[in-house]
Amino acid sequence: MLCYALAVRIVYASSEMAPYAKTGGLADVSAALPKALAARGHEVTCFLPRYGSIPFPPGRFIGSVHVPVDSLHRSAGFYESEPSAGLRVIFVEHPPFFDRSGLYGDAYGDFGDNAFRFAFFCRAVLEFCRSRGYRPDVIHAHDWQTGLLPVYLKAFYGDDPTLHRVPTVFTVHNLAYQGHFSAETLGPLGLPDSLATEDALEWDGHICYMKGGLLFAEMVTTVSPTYAREIQTPEFGQGLEVVVRSRSADLVGILNGVDYQEWDPRHDPHIAAPFDEGDHVGKVACKRALLAEFGLATEPDLPLIGIISRLVYQKGFDLVAAGLEPLLARRLRLVALGTGEPEVEEGLREFARRDPSRFGVRFEYDQSLAHRIEAGADMLLIPSRFEPCGLTQLYSMRYGTIPIVRATGGLVDTVQHFDARAKAGTGFVFEYADLTGLLWAIDEALSAYARPGPWSDLMRRAMTRDFSWGLSAERYEAVYSRDQINV
Ligand code: ADP
Ligand code: GLC
Repeated sequence: MLCYALAVRIVYASSEMAPYAKTGGLADVSAALPKALAARGHEVTCFLPRYGSIPFPPGRFIGSVHVPVDSLHRSAGFYESEPSAGLRVIFVEHPPFFDRSGLYGDAYGDFGDNAFRFAFFCRAVLEFCRSRGYRPDVIHAHDWQTGLLPVYLKAFYGDDPTLHRVPTVFTVHNLAYQGHFSAETLGPLGLPDSLATEDALEWDGHICYMKGGLLFAEMVTTVSPTYAREIQTPEFGQGLEVVVRSRSADLVGILNGVDYQEWDPRHDPHIAAPFDEGDHVGKVACKRALLAEFGLATEPDLPLIGIISRLVYQKGFDLVAAGLEPLLARRLRLVALGTGEPEVEEGLREFARRDPSRFGVRFEYDQSLAHRIEAGADMLLIPSRFEPCGLTQLYSMRYGTIPIVRATGGLVDTVQHFDARAKAGTGFVFEYADLTGLLWAIDEALSAYARPGPWSDLMRRAMTRDFSWGLSAERYEAVYSRDQINV
């Protein structure tokens, strides 16, 4: 491992950042990783669009610049705030694009101008740096929303006295969301038609922002070692496996970490009572409070399975819905929090209809309730078909809530199957994304729960696993430094 002695100036551009704007784990990572890097002495400047859900003004006004996108004269305003020492967050304001309540869409689907909204965001970041003469050592971009950032940098800033040859790192959080837009968009974006080719942005007759990030950044990372291997195969590559493979020499899988200031039962303001690995009394109180919150019976004491997730194909909860009868027949309770596909929601709702004393569902986004489920459940179910990293299993382990996961991506890298005899393992892991696999893992968990001694040991092992960001931040430092050598 490289030891990074020098402080680095990092520009970090992301479309989500907790607590300001969140639809999933990207927001958690974009809050925690910059904080961890700043704590290690680096100068980190994060850029985030000022969405309508973020109170205005989001910080101190520090100026505006002209941003040429979609042939119109648009201007971006910049507002700065410093949530923690060494960490700057700059909100990019352009009301026609961002002053909406949704990040990417509304009840009618994705916004029709997402191609321009996020191209604008990328160029605004670059134009801000250029206009200030601010030269970062590295620009770190994330997912398709910032996939054009390295493309613009190479297309327009190659001779710029401030930004020429600034290296970029592009992190894939989820290859399933790629940002596909009509090839006709290139012209209005100010990008040459020559980019609409197979070795650049073209994908199946469209242009693909994710592909831009994959091909134009100096280094590519993703959020677990296993996902880094998986996305080079047709099964997980979402059609981009050949592109990903072409970058295999510059591709690194770095596990996400946990911000334990946010997610720790010893000092979590959202939960009924604190607890830790040596004293589970608080956890019992949290379970009772959670059962009461969902209106479930507290007697007899049955194991309580929690679900906190986007309810989309990736996450595999259609398998749970398909297991209605066998799951109703088992001695367990279940609480689910999520939003997503109507059929999956309907499938889960049916459990609560059939037995409201044991099954509770909430189809909403509630960050505080997510903490209470992490704390009050005995197990957390994550049957993902693919999972780049996954954060909820990392959180659940700290709360002694044992993850039941499918063997994929970051889930295999972070959860080891329980072995009573060897007194090893931190959860339950099943191989195949089908009902048989799911029920097998749930049965393994239920029979382990029935033996209090080994279950307590399992909880202690899970609670003492350390996924703090320090080690992962160090790995990003190594990527930033390697990148500077290779640019
Ligand atoms: P993904 O990013 O694919 O959705 P992760 O496990 O990486 O999956 O991160 C999910 C994050 O979103 C976690 O912080 C989880 O607590 C949160 N989350 C998911 N669904 C909800 C919900 N309905 N309400 C509150 N938080 C949620
Ligand atoms: C994505 C992935 C998830 C990952 C998160 C943060 O949303 O689906 O597995 O944990 O990004 O990297």
